[in-house]
Amino acid sequence: MVGIYGKPEAMTEGSAVTVDDAYITESIKVPTAKVVKGFNPIMPVIALTDAEIKDLVAFVASLK
Ligand code: HEM
Repeated sequence: MVGIYGKPEAMTEGSAVTVDDAYITESIKVPTAKVVKGFNPIMPVIALTDAEIKDLVAFVASLK
């Protein structure tokens, strides 16, 4: 996930999504909502608090 923040990414269903906090949050909460093109929808839903998700979003965004 290094370098994805702020960049557009192609999704399986043909749309493009700009990676921002809302997209990362959705990808963690509902992993099958938008699946990156070329990947299978195998990411599990992980039991996390909103605070933990917020920290993970900040971490992913920090991966330059
Ligand atoms: C806390 C742990 C995790 C976080 C924060 C996380 C976060 C994310 C994010 C932000 C994306 C979107 C990446 C992008 O747009 O390029 C993603 C995609 C993905 N994740 Fe995870 N993930 C986690 C755990 C896992 C686990 C445990 C698996 C598999 C066992 C997994 C499998 C995948 C796969 C295959 C994708 C690409 C397909 C898709 O969009 O669903 N992830 N993950």
